[in-house]
Amino acid sequence: MRAHCDKDWPFPKDFIIGSASSAYQIEGGWNTSGKGENNWDWYTHNKPWLIADGSNGDVACDSFYKYKEDVAILKDIGFDFYRFSISWSRIFPTGFSNETSKEGIQYYHDLIDELRSKGIEPFVTIYHWDHPQILEKMGGWVNELMVDFFTDFARLVFQEFGPKVRYFATINEPSFFCFGGYGGAVTAPAWNLTLNAEYLCMHNALKAHAKAYHMYDEEFRSTQNGKIGIVLTCQYFFGQDKNDTVTPDIAFQYDCGWTAHPIFSKLGDYPKIMRKRIDENSRIQGWPRSRLPTFTQKEIEYIRGTADYFGLNHYTSHIAVPVKRGTGEVWENDRGFHQAVDPKWPVSAASWLMMVPEGFGNILRRITKEYGNLPIYVTENGYADHGSLNDHERLKYYYAYLKEMLVAINDGCNVKGYTAWSFLDDFEWRGGYTTLFGIVHVDFNDPGRKRTYKKSAKWYKDLLKCRKLIPVHNYTNNN
Ligand code: BGC
Repeated sequence: MRAHCDKDWPFPKDFIIGSASSAYQIEGGWNTSGKGENNWDWYTHNKPWLIADGSNGDVACDSFYKYKEDVAILKDIGFDFYRFSISWSRIFPTGFSNETSKEGIQYYHDLIDELRSKGIEPFVTIYHWDHPQILEKMGGWVNELMVDFFTDFARLVFQEFGPKVRYFATINEPSFFCFGGYGGAVTAPAWNLTLNAEYLCMHNALKAHAKAYHMYDEEFRSTQNGKIGIVLTCQYFFGQDKNDTVTPDIAFQYDCGWTAHPIFSKLGDYPKIMRKRIDENSRIQGWPRSRLPTFTQKEIEYIRGTADYFGLNHYTSHIAVPVKRGTGEVWENDRGFHQAVDPKWPVSAASWLMMVPEGFGNILRRITKEYGNLPIYVTENGYADHGSLNDHERLKYYYAYLKEMLVAINDGCNVKGYTAWSFLDDFEWRGGYTTLFGIVHVDFNDPGRKRTYKKSAKWYKDLLKCRKLIPVHNYTNNN
């Protein structure tokens, strides 16, 4: 089959295209190489009922052993870069920096060297949700000491791998694990301490990010010359009523601005609307102080501007419906809206993920308008199904979303790179192996974890040759 590159939709010159994974989701080897137990090991082993199929990442894609095969596939598809993360407890088996695992460190050297030998740029996420269980026992991200623990970990990552890495992301989606894991119970550690723990968690995550950024600036930038940022998850919110611009704006501030405003806005600090509303709600509820912690002016300045790029994970959109104070759940009372969906939107195998391509263009324009022209790297975007090799819906999704992104670039958005999530079918957190995002299929019943290209992997291979979008109909026939 010959690829029909669409001449109307070229990618800009110097635009980079890659694919991504994260350590816990693909590596396996959970207790090899001297690796210590991490929060996800503990969570899946002790509370398997919270995972859709009761599974875990003990073996996952076995990429700890099969990384060479993975890199060969990335090379064959033609990706410019590979975004992956470092397993904290593989590097610090006791959880602390007084003891390092040589074997663990070597694994990442080998992976990075293998990538570079094939001309693939490593894009390293320092923290993608897995941390040593001992740190979780000490309060995880709600313990302010996590800021220092994270900085110790980041220092080792820069020292060891920095000379070979151009792109670093400090933390993946703090709003997700703070909201879902500390405030809620949809992900590890499932504390479910809503309306308090998530705010404390984010406060520490922002400080940890900023501290790692400053450390890179002071100790490593002059010799390593890399780019360092943070990865945020931002949906797009439509109004229920077309004339309602206020509720979608509030929704943007809570969803994206909670992390973005302190780092990327001119003024820094949490979005004004969050400050006002959570202060008010806390007062009404009789709290002695606001549940949203306060930064000192010095901290505001310390956090503001700590990113060389905006790392954006975007999957889906929602409709923001206003909720009156006192009528919704507690979290909704702080936010003042709830999320609804348009029944016309196609729903993926993951019930939270609807295909709404226009939302992607809108969020790129919104981020640009709100935070200026800093480069944006789309660090994740993708679609869930049940693992079919003929992944037609995923192809439709990628085509439509990439087209929206190219329109946004033409509109002036400074998007410099795009990452397809995910490279391999992998352990999808609470979804286990039931909802899959890979462009490459992994047979989880096969001890060898055989990898097979899906249609979408073939499409990407052609697209990367053309450097233009390719209509998907040739790939969606059952051939
Ligand atoms: C996370 C990934 C995850 C994906 C799909 C993102 O929020 O960073 O680890 O697999 O969403 O759920």
